[in-house]
Amino acid sequence: MIAVRDACFSGHSLTAVILSLSCFLPSCLPMGRTGENKWTETVVTRQGDTALLRCYLTDGQSKGAWLNHSSIIFTGSDKWSADPRVSVVSSVDSKHEYSLQIQKVDVTDEGRYTCIVQNNHNPQSNHIFLSVKVPPKINIISDDVTVNEGGYVSLICAASGRPEPTISWRHITPLAKKYESGKQLNISGITRDQAGEYECSAQNDVASPNTKTVKVTVNFPPTIHEVKATGVGVARSALLRCEAAAVPPPAFEWYRGSRRLTRGHGTDIKTLSSRSVLSMTNMTQERYGNYTCMAVNKLGTANASVSLLPPSSAPYGNSSSTVRSSACLLLLLSSLLCLF
Ligand SMILES: *[C@@H]1O[C@H](CO)[C@@H](O)[C@H](O)[C@H]1NC(C)=O
Ligand SMILES: *[C@@H]1O[C@H](CO)[C@@H](O)[C@H](O)[C@H]1NC(C)=O
Ligand SMILES: *[C@@H]1O[C@H](CO)[C@@H](O)[C@H](O)[C@H]1NC(C)=O
Ligand SMILES: *[C@@H]1O[C@H](CO)[C@@H](O)[C@H](O)[C@H]1NC(C)=O
Ligand SMILES: *[C@@H]1O[C@H](CO)[C@@H](O)[C@H](O)[C@H]1NC(C)=O
Ligand SMILES: *[C@@H]1O[C@H](CO)[C@@H](O)[C@H](O)[C@H]1NC(C)=O
Repeated sequence: MIAVRDACFSGHSLTAVILSLSCFLPSCLPMGRTGENKWTETVVTRQGDTALLRCYLTDGQSKGAWLNHSSIIFTGSDKWSADPRVSVVSSVDSKHEYSLQIQKVDVTDEGRYTCIVQNNHNPQSNHIFLSVKVPPKINIISDDVTVNEGGYVSLICAASGRPEPTISWRHITPLAKKYESGKQLNISGITRDQAGEYECSAQNDVASPNTKTVKVTVNFPPTIHEVKATGVGVARSALLRCEAAAVPPPAFEWYRGSRRLTRGHGTDIKTLSSRSVLSMTNMTQERYGNYTCMAVNKLGTANASVSLLPPSSAPYGNSSSTVRSSACLLLLLSSLLCLF
C-alpha cells in the first residue's frame, strides 16, 4: 500500500496519478475510508434533472480531475468524455470550485464519481455517489373487463420508478374500499356491487402517485323491482311503470293477459335503460285487466304482473262502501216498514 502510494505520487503527470488511482480504486479506497480519501456524500437527483457534483480545489495551483467509476471525464479543463451533457463548473474565487455538472441525468448515470484534487503532489479523492430517482409511472394496466356475476376477475397493473413503486388498488365507490397492495388484484365470486371503476395507484417517495383506472362490468340477469299501474276512468290516460335491474340493460315486453302489446292505437311504450313505461291514452273497458312486464337480457328473463283496474274498484274503495250501502238499504227498508 505504502509502496503503491509512493510509486504513484512520485510521478509528476496528473494523468499518471489518476490512472494509477483508478487502477487501485476498488481495492485501495474502500467506501467510507477517512483520511485523504473521503466518501464525501450522496447526491440525489430526479431523472431528467441537472446534477451538480461539488468539488473544490484547495488553491489556484491545485489541479483537479473527475472520474465516472474508473473512466476519466475531465482532467483540469480537458474533457475526456464525449458526453455532451457533462461539463465542469469552475470559479476563480477563493474556493476554486471544480464541480461536475451532468444535464438530463438518466438512471445509467447512477454510480460513483470521484473528484481528484492534486496539490503539492498530495492527491485527495472525493467520492460522490450519484443516486438517480424516477417518479412512478404505470406502464401496463388491464383493459376494461366484463364478467358474469359469480365469475373471476384478475386485474393487472405494472409500474416503473426508482425506488420501485408500491402498487395499491381502490374500488371507486362512496365507500372507496381498499384492496391489498400488489400488481395483481384477484376477485373471485364477483358480485354486482363490485362492478365499477378500479383505480391502480403507483407510489414512491419521488413524486405524487401515478394513477390509472380500469372498468369492471358485472353482468347479471334481470330482476323486476316494481311494476305499478295507475287506474283511471274510461277515456282517460293510464300509465304502467316497470322497474328492473339487469346488466346489460334489459329489453322489455308488455302483455295484457297473454297478448303481447305493441305501439300504436293509443298505446305507447317508452324504455329508458332499466325502466319501461306503458301508456295508453283513451282507456276503454277492454283495456282493464292483468298486465305483465317482462325484462329480458342475455343472461335471463324476469316477469311481474299487475292489475289495471278502473278507479271505482281500487283497493279499500269497495268493501266499506258495499257495507255502507247495505246498511242504508236496511235503514230505508225499516223506515218504509214503519210508515206502513
Ligand atoms: C457513467 O458511466 C456509465 C457507464 O459506466 C455511463 O452509462 C454513464 O453515461 C456515465 N455517466 C456520465 C455522466 O458520464
Ligand atoms: C392472483 O392470481 C394469480 C393466478 O391467477 C396468482 O399468481 C396471484 O398470486 C394472485 N394474486 C393474489 C394477490 O392473490
Ligand atoms: C276514445 O275511444 C272512443 C271509443 O272507442 C272513441 O269514440 C273516441 O273517439 C276516442 N277518443 C280519442 C280522443 O281517441
Ligand atoms: C296475470 O297474468 C300472469 C301471466 O299470464 C299470471 O301469471 C298471473 O297470475 C296473472 N295475475 C292475475 C292477478 O291474474
Ligand atoms: C314469469 O315468471 C315465473 C317465475 O317468476 C315463471 O314461472 C313464468 O314462466 C314466467 N312467465 C313467462 C311468460 O315467462
Ligand atoms: C273488493 O271487492 C272484490 C269483489 O267485489 C273482492 O274480491 C276484493 O277482495 C275487495 N277488495 C278489498 C280490498 O276488500
